Amino acid sequence: MVRFQHFEVERWMEAYEFTPGVLNIAETCVESVSIDQLAQLSGDKGELPPRTSTVLIYGAIRGSSTLRETISTLYEGEQIAPENVIITQGAIAANFLAFYSLIEPEDHVICVYPTYQQLYSVPESLGAEVSLWRLKPEQGFVPDMDELEKLAKANTKMIVINNPNNPTGVPIPRDVVYKIVDFAKARGIMILSDEVYRPLFHDGLEDNADMPPSVADLGYDKAIVTGSLSKAYSLGGIRVGWIASGDKAIVERLVEARHYVTISVSQLDDQVASYALSPAVRGALMKRNIQQAKHNADMLKAFVEAHSSVCSWVAPTAGTTAFIQFHVGGKPVDDVAFCRDVLDKTKVLLVPGSRCFGHDQDFAGYVRVGFVGSTAVLEEALQKLGVYVRQHLGQ
Ligand SMILES: Cc1ncc(COP(=O)(O)O)c(C=O)c1O
Repeated sequence: MVRFQHFEVERWMEAYEFTPGVLNIAETCVESVSIDQLAQLSGDKGELPPRTSTVLIYGAIRGSSTLRETISTLYEGEQIAPENVIITQGAIAANFLAFYSLIEPEDHVICVYPTYQQLYSVPESLGAEVSLWRLKPEQGFVPDMDELEKLAKANTKMIVINNPNNPTGVPIPRDVVYKIVDFAKARGIMILSDEVYRPLFHDGLEDNADMPPSVADLGYDKAIVTGSLSKAYSLGGIRVGWIASGDKAIVERLVEARHYVTISVSQLDDQVASYALSPAVRGALMKRNIQQAKHNADMLKAFVEAHSSVCSWVAPTAGTTAFIQFHVGGKPVDDVAFCRDVLDKTKVLLVPGSRCFGHDQDFAGYVRVGFVGSTAVLEEALQKLGVYVRQHLGQ
């Protein structure tokens, strides 16, 4: 039997996210939308997906050509053609597939940390040795290339990054992405880049010289990217994600493994995803989502500044999450007890960092805040959290 660790963040969310009256600021999706809202946002008056006349055969095994073609246009250059894209049930299935099909027990994998636990626990469960590439607040949570040099071994098979990062909300800067690709290329190491929060860069998508490239845009065929409709595109409920690589042999290997778990993704979901990513709808949706991310990030910044004697952070500039450390008298709070007590007394749901993103006491005192859900919920939650913090942490 494969041995695997508990997936702590998913367990936490399952236990608490439907608490009656909850003010959920633990969620990582930009406030979710309906198909009607997509049409309203884009001003589209045409027929909405899914088409009820569709006969519900399995449909295209790798995903419809429309969807794969649309996803290929999200990447620059020619490396990612429609044939290089495979549709999956969310990025969670895409990430799993990458590890299941490419990692063996004798391999070594390097993974940024903190990040979504799946990215290091799954390769570990397959028997690989995993080294955690620690992101440090004093370095602005930016991965340190000297550290990577120290972690790499002769059998390093894959470097796993998450850009923008969950939980820090910090993107890996442009120049560092280039350096990681050069490093991997020089040694023939694969890169798996989980880019589910792309393209949610708070400074926008146009004239944003700092926006990091996708690793799929840098001409390295051993780069593999995963993406999703759940986060930046507000459609977690359709469970559509993808995996893409410029290397046809990697793509075929992924497809061979995928046959065992997927057959195909729902045709109805595929149609909704194709609609959401069509240029007119995607443009309007991303405009709304980036505005909301920026606005809500400013609200969170005001909270952190107002309570700076008990909390500190690296301000997020991308994605939907922030990693905030709460401390009293210079000592980190017990974040699990803190999150439970906050939920109990205020109904505000947070995620404890040491439990859900760290081993042992790593990231003690940290909580993850998902701040790009409803602005009204964030406002009420921060107001209640402020009262709690003043009463219980002595701010
Ligand atoms: C970094 C990261 N990757 C993948 C996923 C899974 O997303 P999806 O809904 O696309 O399966 C999540 C969800 O929280 C995530 O944060």
